[in-house]
Amino acid sequence: MSHPLFDLSGQKALVTGAGRGIGATLALGLAQAGADVAIADIDLAPADEGRRAIEALERRCTLIEADVTDRAGAERMVAEASAALGGLTILVNNAGTNVRKTMAEVTEEDWDRVLDLNLKSLFFITRRAGDEMKKAGGGKVINMASLMGWSVFRNPHGQTYGPYASSKGGVIALTRSFAIEWAKENIQVNAICPTFIETPLTQPLLEDPAVSGAICARTPMGRFGRMEELIGPCVFLASAASNLVTGESLLVDGGWHAG
Ligand SMILES: NC(=O)c1ccc[n+]([C@@H]2O[C@H](COP(=O)([O-])OP(=O)(O)OC[C@H]3O[C@@H](n4cnc5c(N)ncnc54)[C@H](O)[C@@H]3O)[C@@H](O)[C@H]2O)c1
Repeated sequence: MSHPLFDLSGQKALVTGAGRGIGATLALGLAQAGADVAIADIDLAPADEGRRAIEALERRCTLIEADVTDRAGAERMVAEASAALGGLTILVNNAGTNVRKTMAEVTEEDWDRVLDLNLKSLFFITRRAGDEMKKAGGGKVINMASLMGWSVFRNPHGQTYGPYASSKGGVIALTRSFAIEWAKENIQVNAICPTFIETPLTQPLLEDPAVSGAICARTPMGRFGRMEELIGPCVFLASAASNLVTGESLLVDGGWHAG
């Protein structure tokens, strides 16, 4: 029998970038723990499979097409999720991207695209979601950061993913600010910092033997993570089991930062 502290029955979750990849896996994981889920994505084409899997669990699921970098659209996304689910108590800020270039190659457009999606959008979405959580008496925000918000990895091509690392470092700081300001509102705000996970986003890395070899050599566990390995941390941070945890950025990194 599962522990009641991890039971998400009655909780209402919005997961951004949940059409595919980590977001889709976390949306299903939250539903498996009992939550109703809104799947938001700029591209809903692959999302129907996720919706069907969630509905098969007899949980409510709604699909919302939204570009999270469009402030008005993102705030409308939060309102739509809350209207469809009957409130909002969990937000997973997952939509994100990377640009794999050296610092010399990064353009202003690259910088704006990565920072707008990975960092700026989180600020407006979280602030709007907080309004809904306050109405509900509290809530949980989970921001998808990265181990690269903690330290920089130089791959064999000399790239350090500068805009990405900057955005994820910003997510860790933003997580702390919201956590402190909302600590007395019963809203816990935390981040998950995964190692390299096998997803469509990292497919080019997996297919590059020099890069994937360097990542595996650097990781004590000697491998990339699997999307399913993020469900446990996410359910923990979405549940009453983590009620005293806020402002934390949880490394889920196969031992990367242990040494
Ligand atoms: N894959 C990894 O190794 C890894 C490691 C650490 C952190 N992360 C983070 O996890 C998150 C998910 O990564 P992933 O590997 O699943 O990526 P992915 O590219 O496979 O999926 C990202 C999803 O976000 C959606 N999206 C993109 N732009 C959007 C926008 N403007 N509005 C709404 N949705 C948008 C995409 O359509 C896609 O469904 C990202 O924040 C990423 O930085 C990933």
